[in-house]
Amino acid sequence: MYFKAWLNYDGELNENVRDYFQAVFSNYESNVFSKVNRQMYLHAMEEVKAAANSFLGKKPDEYDFIMNEENFTVIEEKYENTEEQKWKRGILLYYVPENQDNEESLSTDGAYEIKQYLDEEKRFDLWTVRASGGRGILYGTYALIRQAICDGKLTDTGVVKPSLALRMLNHWDNLDGSIERGYSGNSFFFSKNQILVDERTAFYARLLASVGINGVVINNVNVKDMATRLISPLYYAKLREMSELFAGYGIQLFMSLNFAAPMELGGLSGCDPLAEDVVRWWKEKMQEVYREIPNLGGFLVKADSEGRPGPFTYGRTHADGANMLAKEIAPYGGLIIWRCFVYNCKQDWRDKKTDRARAGYDNFMPLDGKFLDNVILQIKNGPMDFQVREPISPLFGGLRSTNQMLEVQIAQEYTGQQRHVCYLVPMWKEALDFHTYCKESDDRVQDIIKGKTFGGRNCGMAGVANTGDDPNWTGHDLAAANLYGFGRLSFDNNLSSEEIAREWISMTFPRTPIVMSNLLYILMNSWSTYEHYTSPLGIGWMVNPSYHYGPNVDGYEYDRWGTYHRADCKGIGIDRTSKGTGYSTQYQKQNAMMYEDVATCPDELLLFFHRILYTDRLKSGKTLIQHIYDTHFEGVEEVKEFIRLFCQLEGVLSEDVFQRILNRLTEQLSSAEEWRDVVNTYFYRKSGIEDEKSREIY
Ligand code: GCU
Repeated sequence: MYFKAWLNYDGELNENVRDYFQAVFSNYESNVFSKVNRQMYLHAMEEVKAAANSFLGKKPDEYDFIMNEENFTVIEEKYENTEEQKWKRGILLYYVPENQDNEESLSTDGAYEIKQYLDEEKRFDLWTVRASGGRGILYGTYALIRQAICDGKLTDTGVVKPSLALRMLNHWDNLDGSIERGYSGNSFFFSKNQILVDERTAFYARLLASVGINGVVINNVNVKDMATRLISPLYYAKLREMSELFAGYGIQLFMSLNFAAPMELGGLSGCDPLAEDVVRWWKEKMQEVYREIPNLGGFLVKADSEGRPGPFTYGRTHADGANMLAKEIAPYGGLIIWRCFVYNCKQDWRDKKTDRARAGYDNFMPLDGKFLDNVILQIKNGPMDFQVREPISPLFGGLRSTNQMLEVQIAQEYTGQQRHVCYLVPMWKEALDFHTYCKESDDRVQDIIKGKTFGGRNCGMAGVANTGDDPNWTGHDLAAANLYGFGRLSFDNNLSSEEIAREWISMTFPRTPIVMSNLLYILMNSWSTYEHYTSPLGIGWMVNPSYHYGPNVDGYEYDRWGTYHRADCKGIGIDRTSKGTGYSTQYQKQNAMMYEDVATCPDELLLFFHRILYTDRLKSGKTLIQHIYDTHFEGVEEVKEFIRLFCQLEGVLSEDVFQRILNRLTEQLSSAEEWRDVVNTYFYRKSGIEDEKSREIY
């Protein structure tokens, strides 16, 4: 069982808009389309039909499709002559051949234009979705439906092009059906070592296409056991079926790869990327894989990190490892996406020079320019690991001659695990808008991953998925805003967090002013609220080790001495300046200087970069200790306010949705109280300093 999420098409539509959904026309010509484009085209028509059936209350077979075998003129004639102009208005999905004059701008993959077509005598009043490929037709169709629902009117868009070439999801699903960091049930791709391709897979593809996702990695980056065998005959038939289903929605299938597959699958004695037998093994393997799954996009690789195998064992570099694989899949147009999440988790935190934050840059900067063109380095937004607040990885703005992709986590591993509401789009937006100062202009992270700064067409953004087989897909109903938001933001980097939240609310829930205002308030304030009651000012962690939920101030799992955050009776924070671990020097000069100096370092990252005394004053004028007490009290009050506002929606939202969300908010409140008490008590005991407001600290 699954719900339709933001594709439910429920609720009344303004009459004026609804009229256009009475018929869909197209200049669909089967012979001009490749098989894949044709499927996308047909799916676009199905989507209009699904929306129209809901808007007009018709049954599916009552809906009018008018397909044309030749060209637009014939449509006009048909339109005109059919049953005395039965349709006053309609929608036209119009394929524009790429070489048609003046249509240059539509030739970008995924580009579309929505435009009204009114002939002079006003016989035709059509809204056209124009595109030169299947993806564009699909995306334009979803955009048109979105306009109808969210704006209550249709508008000319001009040519809309995706901001980023690759807009990918990374699933961390295991073949036994479990999901690493999964908070929404089990996998819907795998169960008991079998691959599932069913109605739910098709609906999922629809959800992703509707927000512009064009690539999906289906298995966990930690490739172990049966997952290694995904590249074996055991799974090819099902993978091909899945890849074809996805392709019909403009989505390419990718898989995570086990670097040690030559040993674990091929029986070789090693996996040295420069050893002849290893190279031969991969060559033959890639031939076999691409023969069986021709439209596979490529592979995601986590190597030499957290116990995963990699080139280091053989004294080789990441470039040696990535290039060897990239060379073997280049003939099939495949990509190797190589993760930069590489660090030594066995470091000794008692050594003041130890700094995990440095690792990504230290490992990959020396390799800049050494990767083949079909290799992309995938870089987490921050240098650590998806904490509630981190600076942007200095690899962005550091690397100049390497394809790059930004990795964010939609799954809320460290941000409440989809039991707390935490709308993450504002965080991703900050990452995209961050100025790296690597050039005088076009220096933001989004410019780099667009290929604008240093060129490169293999670039983009990846999000670690937050879905599972729970009926509502994301465990917390409000967590679906993050999935929707990731897609929309990666498609259009210019959208604001609020615009995205508004769209998602309109598409998902009853369209009434109170639903909009209250849910919008909750979403837009949720990230800062979560930050308030958890770890302060960018220091990070303070969660229970391994499962990462709930407070544990000394709980950083790779530091059994409890020294990670350096808290003692005087202060807390890590000196990452040039006088400390030197991490701040990995940034371009302007940013390095900003972080180096306490006076210019943004408060929210203060403890990430500096060691501060409890009695030191922040820019707000408060002492550090008072800031910690205040924000933790505030965080809890903010959750109470969320609950108060949410309760006003009783009777407006459907009973089951209301109850599900209320249950999560109630859990969030008790968890926030626990965080407040654990963190405040810890720092009260360490510092011995009373709360200025004399509140009780437990
Ligand atoms: C985090 C997470 C792991 C995951 C890793 C990664 O450390 O806790 O479960 O494997 O990130 O991104 O590879």
